[in-house]
Amino acid sequence: MSDDGAHTDAVDQEVTVLQSGTIRVRSEDDILRARQEARAVAEGIGFSTTDVTRIVTGVSELTRNMHLYAEDGIMEWKEIEAGRDSGLELVFDDDGPGIDDIEGVLRAEHSTSGGMGRGIQGTQKLMDAFEIVSTPDDGTTITVRKWR
Ligand SMILES: Nc1ncnc2c1ncn2[C@@H]1O[C@H](COP(=O)(O)OP(=O)(O)OP(=O)(O)O)[C@@H](O)[C@H]1O
Ligand SMILES: [Mg+2]
Repeated sequence: MSDDGAHTDAVDQEVTVLQSGTIRVRSEDDILRARQEARAVAEGIGFSTTDVTRIVTGVSELTRNMHLYAEDGIMEWKEIEAGRDSGLELVFDDDGPGIDDIEGVLRAEHSTSGGMGRGIQGTQKLMDAFEIVSTPDDGTTITVRKWR
């Protein structure tokens, strides 16, 4: 897989939302809860064990980022459908400081916490569609989709 995200689509396909829920993330416990809920929802949709692990890994990375960099955020999950395809959309939304260098972050060259700077790039690779919107005024919103 290439490093530039070329194999990951934008989040632009029209979908129907069958079910949804939200989890507020402002503590380590909330991160655990978000992981557990995402696991249960993904299993309910019928994802393979491998895909459930990919999804839970992405939830770990993006909720950890929200808690670390923005202190507080919300994960929304949506069971989605497009034609005969079913899947899961996850939206990670915070009102934190925003991400300065999105291009650098997507190339995994950028960390402000002494981390590997791999969380976002790694998560993008685990998902089928991925989108970041981030500004200093409005915080960060990352939307991902995985199809079964
Ligand atoms: N929700 C967010 N709000 C503000 N800045 C963020 C947010 N998420 C990520 N960032 C910024 O993007 C950088 C890259 O994030 P990423 O998760 O890819 O790597 P990391 O957190 O630095 O390290 P790792 O996740 O590998 O431990 C972070 O260092 C941080 O500066
Ligand atoms: Mg991270």
